[in-house]
Amino acid sequence: MQNEPSSSQSSGQARKLITLASTAWLIASGTMLATLSPGLAAHLSLDLALVIALGIAVPMALRKPKPTAGDEGLELALHLARAAERHEGRSGKHHQRIGFIARAVANRMGLSDERCTEIGQAAMLHDVGKIWVDQDVIRKPGRLTEEEREEMSRHVEHGAALLQESSNPIVRLGGLIARTHHERWDGTGYPAGLMGESIPLEGRIVAACDVLDALTSDRPYRPAMSLEQALDVIELGRGSRFDPKVVDALQACRTLLSETYVESTTRRISV
Ligand SMILES: [Fe+2]
Ligand SMILES: [Fe+2]
Repeated sequence: MQNEPSSSQSSGQARKLITLASTAWLIASGTMLATLSPGLAAHLSLDLALVIALGIAVPMALRKPKPTAGDEGLELALHLARAAERHEGRSGKHHQRIGFIARAVANRMGLSDERCTEIGQAAMLHDVGKIWVDQDVIRKPGRLTEEEREEMSRHVEHGAALLQESSNPIVRLGGLIARTHHERWDGTGYPAGLMGESIPLEGRIVAACDVLDALTSDRPYRPAMSLEQALDVIELGRGSRFDPKVVDALQACRTLLSETYVESTTRRISV
């Protein structure tokens, strides 16, 4: 899949365009002022007007734009997602792979490029709440007790509570995904037991991507499955655990995933 420009790249391009337009406007204003104002003409030459205009516009063009509060919020949330993965004893690539696959699936489902990028970024935040799970529980190699499983399952509420009040819409979408990525199509998931399309689409997408990534990753109790084997397991959950349309989209990404997924486990992924 081709990398689409991110929303921050788009806003950077928009800022450049605004700066260029401002520069042109200031030059034109300076020129008109010097050309059309008889009163000032005696005191202000055309050259001087241009110097004044450029003196204002060039520093504006060269000044590095400050990140907005929203951008900082997303950056901080992504740092927390990485920290949560380290806390779990993982490499830090799981959340990136989920972002990559979720974006590809959203693309296959016909969502706009902008929405696919947002889903890819927000999907990376899905497990951020694991940072609150006790390390003895989250790193336990064997079977969890009922109490430990309950503590683990609360990561969805911790993540949602952290992200859903953000001023950044992508972080808020991350909160929605955090809350719903363990719901199941047949209503047997958690935390709310939502069913079918009452589960937000973004949560349904990440649910399937998350399981695919878990199956293709080594676990203390089993080696990683191949992509083909993992997709076969996903197929078994069609209509029960997973939204059939999401499964269709994931299967349609098979070639793309086989070409890029293995490589993506060893490098940073641009989502
Ligand atoms: Fe999770
Ligand atoms: Fe996950």
